[in-house]
Amino acid sequence: MSEALIKNFAPKLIAWHGKDGRQGLPWQSVRDPYAVWVSEIMLQQTQVATVLERYPRFMKRFPSVKKLAAAPLDDVLAEWAGLGYYSRARNLHACANQVMEQFAGKFPSDPVLLEQLKGVGRSTAGAIAAFAFHERAPILDANVKRILARLFGIEGAVQDKAVNDQLWLLAKKLLPNAPEQMPVYTQALMDFGATWCTARKPVCLSGDRKCPFAKDCEANLSDRVLFLPRKIVKAKSPEFHCDMLILRFGDSVLLQRRPEKAIWGGLWSLPESPWRPFSTTEKKSSKSIEQDNAELTAQALFDLVLPQEKLPSALKKSQVVQRGQQIKHIFTHRRLWMQIWSLSINETPKLLASDLKWVSLHQLGRYGLPQPIKLLLQGLSLTRDVELRK
Ligand code: ADE
Repeated sequence: MSEALIKNFAPKLIAWHGKDGRQGLPWQSVRDPYAVWVSEIMLQQTQVATVLERYPRFMKRFPSVKKLAAAPLDDVLAEWAGLGYYSRARNLHACANQVMEQFAGKFPSDPVLLEQLKGVGRSTAGAIAAFAFHERAPILDANVKRILARLFGIEGAVQDKAVNDQLWLLAKKLLPNAPEQMPVYTQALMDFGATWCTARKPVCLSGDRKCPFAKDCEANLSDRVLFLPRKIVKAKSPEFHCDMLILRFGDSVLLQRRPEKAIWGGLWSLPESPWRPFSTTEKKSSKSIEQDNAELTAQALFDLVLPQEKLPSALKKSQVVQRGQQIKHIFTHRRLWMQIWSLSINETPKLLASDLKWVSLHQLGRYGLPQPIKLLLQGLSLTRDVELRK
């Protein structure tokens, strides 16, 4: 391992950032740990361009950790709508309360304490400590792992515990000596991984820009840039199928709150059936999708999606319900096909379950809804407005 590279890494990277890094992002040069924390959580699985739009809005709505902690969880989920990975929003809310209760409303500066906060992993704790408190704390997200594996020619899979430990030690060794350089260094590392030392098109292979580490980088020197870090082959994510009901009464639609621990936990969605695994053989013949519940009776649909509720008396048990669209949604680890069924009724059945609610189509914005369901229901709302104007 080159001692010279270890010594020169931080100054070279900071110099690179001055010329080619991202400048002027609204969360840069911010020292308020609350603002830093919100931006880091939002940036975790969301593109910078989207965060640029949503971050100022979030900060305006919840300007302090105190305000965020005091807000109802539903308001936080509604503000987060469309950003995905909703456990981040639930964790933000829980973490704000934790900061109020355990740290008297003040974020700690020690990365070890920061890591105890809900939703804050070791790398995010390092980023908050570096940006807000100028602590000499390393970060090690997937981009940084890639940079280090290439620079130092690390062959093992970065998911291995021993390799991961080695990378953390290295990340610590590479830090600049001067604490005041920690924010620019940390931002530079993030930007270099996101824009230059990228997974599939690193600049060293395109030839139009010169990587400042080209002469030091083990992977570049041995032509292994695209082979490092070593990839582990992931199994294809499994597919599922479910039925969902749009039950309408006048201007309102029936929503059901999803269980906390489920996918889209805590969000309001349409009543749905249990998910059924969808095998590849079945999928190959598109006919089987068509034939799978080509039509349903009202009773069968209620048994599927609302087994605890009584069929409204305005509906005949044998009434045939027609299929609506089929929507595909891709999650990180699974894919879901949602078959939509629509029913309109002329009386509101008394709701037995407390997780059910009639919501006016015009008030959907007040609820945190999964993005595909929100788009589907917004479509209904627009259609209704056009019908009313006719
Ligand atoms: N990803 C995570 N944190 C980031 C930051 N501060 N800037 C850009 N991308 C990021």
